Amino acid sequence: MTSRLPISPQVFAIFSALVAEKIGFHYDAADRELLGDKLSARALDAGFDSLLDYYYFLRYDPGGAAEMDALIDGLVVGETYFFRELAQLELAVSEFVAPRVAAGGRPRIWSAACSSGEEPFTLAMLLAERGLLDKVEIIASDISVRALSRAQAGVLGPRSLRSNAPPPPFAERWLQVTPDRVVVSAELRRAIDWRRINLLDASQVASLGQLDVVICRNVLIYFHDNTARWVVKNLSGALSAGGILLVGVSESLFRLGTALACEERGGVFLYRNAEP
Ligand SMILES: C[S@@+](CC[C@H](N)C(=O)[O-])C[C@H]1O[C@@H](n2cnc3c(N)ncnc32)[C@H](O)[C@@H]1O
Repeated sequence: MTSRLPISPQVFAIFSALVAEKIGFHYDAADRELLGDKLSARALDAGFDSLLDYYYFLRYDPGGAAEMDALIDGLVVGETYFFRELAQLELAVSEFVAPRVAAGGRPRIWSAACSSGEEPFTLAMLLAERGLLDKVEIIASDISVRALSRAQAGVLGPRSLRSNAPPPPFAERWLQVTPDRVVVSAELRRAIDWRRINLLDASQVASLGQLDVVICRNVLIYFHDNTARWVVKNLSGALSAGGILLVGVSESLFRLGTALACEERGGVFLYRNAEP
């Protein structure tokens, strides 16, 4: 039985262009075998014995779109965990969300590449602990259908709690932890509006309307600079006046350039849209 399909430089070139077009991931020539392995696994599962045939199917067959979704699930990196880079989320809640609620607003918050949901669930816990959960709107999205269905079910593996720091004391009110799984409380799951959104698609992003806090962490690193610039432009366009964008602690917008102002607060970096 074939366990891996060969990938010629030409087939690699058309596949890397397809993947860049669909999800923005950039594969260099040096990644040919890596991409070949991922494509092979999916193509063989789908019953193909040639990557070129698989490519034609994805591009031109009516069933290609559903298979593309399955391929995307196999290509994305869903690495995430509860309480990751917690200081950023705490700052967003205490300095941006809470004051807006106090002023009578109903802030809108978007976790823009939420994977299996640990990030928006962490945010929802912080809000609930301050009595703010029903005073905000939380949208959480990802491109991966598989990741989103895990998030919506709220049943995650023990690795979702692999943060270096111990979970904050309030975690036990919201998470039911057993040796083999972590179950998120129904109240948190219900509080989040789950969507499938491709960050490359400007019209999907614009369909969310204006947002006060956009959290887009640990995904820009997978994009080529031009794609990352495009995504940041789309996200910036979705921010309300004075709204903020949070990116991962190892990501920076300086290299890409942005009209947003970079601010530092207590060691946390954020990007803020100008007030009128
Ligand atoms: C490493 S996870 C980050 C999860 C979370 N934000 C965190 O920091 O823990 C990256 C996520 O980005 C998603 N992603 C990749 N490309 C995307 C795209 N073009 N549009 C939307 N989501 C995308 C992946 O499916 C994956 O779930």
